[in-house]
Amino acid sequence: MGCGATGGQAGSQAAGFAAQPPAMWDPRGAEACAAALGGALLLLLFALGVRQLLKQRRPAGFPPGPSGLPFIGNIYSLAASAELPHVYMRKQSQAYGEIFSLDLGGISTVVLNGYDVVKECLVHQSEIFADRPCLPLFKKMTKMGGLLNARYGRGWVDHRRLAVNSFRYFGYGQKSFESKILEETKFFIDAVETYKDEMDQGQNDPSSTFSKENLIFSVGELIIAGTETTTNVLRWAILFMALYPNIQGQVQKEIDLIMGPSGKPSWDDKCKMPYTEAVLHEVLRFCNIVPLGIFHATSEDTVVRGYSIPKGTTVITNLYSVHFDEKYWRDPEIFYPERFLDSSGYFAKKEAFIPFSLGRRHCLGEQLARMEMFLFFTALLQRFHLHFPHELVPNLKPRLGMTLQPQAYLICAERR
Ligand code: HEM
Repeated sequence: MGCGATGGQAGSQAAGFAAQPPAMWDPRGAEACAAALGGALLLLLFALGVRQLLKQRRPAGFPPGPSGLPFIGNIYSLAASAELPHVYMRKQSQAYGEIFSLDLGGISTVVLNGYDVVKECLVHQSEIFADRPCLPLFKKMTKMGGLLNARYGRGWVDHRRLAVNSFRYFGYGQKSFESKILEETKFFIDAVETYKDEMDQGQNDPSSTFSKENLIFSVGELIIAGTETTTNVLRWAILFMALYPNIQGQVQKEIDLIMGPSGKPSWDDKCKMPYTEAVLHEVLRFCNIVPLGIFHATSEDTVVRGYSIPKGTTVITNLYSVHFDEKYWRDPEIFYPERFLDSSGYFAKKEAFIPFSLGRRHCLGEQLARMEMFLFFTALLQRFHLHFPHELVPNLKPRLGMTLQPQAYLICAERR
């Protein structure tokens, strides 16, 4: 607007005394104006570019990593890679080390690969690595409130404690919890009621983190975290049983021996069923339902393996790389339940088995998930023999959604 007016004035002067027309449009003025605007825009772009490049520079002492493109950093390589992100990251760790960094479009991120460094950060520096990053998606979803995405602080402590307490109230971790799994709907409804009681109690406390909004976020998170994960483990388990009929047969032999062909599956039977336990563990190890865990963030400056990691850095724990860590697993690419059995056939725990992660933010629903998986899996195989229709093996490549899941497949369940 300002430029247009100036151009009009210059035009009337150039026209002289002859016609005295009202303000006229002079192309030279407009050109000068456009040039000035263009120059300013270029300068702005240049300044923004320099700012972005400075932001993208690795801070001194930061872990090394592949170089990225201006602005988008390593996002292009991640998106263009033929491999899924967790596999791509594991490959990068072979070149840059177990701890390396990526630039996710200006978000400096540290990726932890293999059991040793994941444990070093999530267990030995548990508090520092217990935060969640303020990523735009998380902010939009739950405003960094709720439980799963909550910043490490009062809100998270309150919500985790409340969730653990209401789980305990229902006998979580005890034998009585078993029957409760059959009443999950009631469980969630009562969890809402417990929350509402907390809200009422906190009414006069201005610093209370219990609010209607946080109630919606945390209950929603619990439902998603509690259904999506367990369902997908079972979908993988069914797929693998049809793929390996020998393994399925061995599980069924154990079920028949311990539970009988029509006995009610019971959590107590688990310790007498090492092979079934080993199969479920191998499904969790091999299929990596949550391959990159949930992103963490550092709440303080810290040093890991001599690298400096500033406060607020996003941290990715590549749990897939832990489960395929050759230091801990022989032939990790092979589906082999026997790796969880000792030479006498007893179930053998493995240190580097961490599908539920480690440290302060480790999965809250581990016990519930384990019980659900065991009861559903044994009940299903007790009654049915599973195979692919016409013995056609489906595509086994995982699909990355909220969790790593199998592609849709058809299965025949024949009464045994
Ligand atoms: C096989 C099933 C499951 C797997 C593999 C799994 C895995 C995980 C993983 C890897 C994390 C991230 C931990 C971290 O930040 O380091 C997590 C967090 C979480 N999980 Fe699970 N999970 C499963 C089932 C469940 C169930 C059944 C529930 C609840 C009903 C649940 C509730 C949560 C919650 C609330 C968190 C966030 C904890 C926090 O931030 O403090 N999960 N889970």
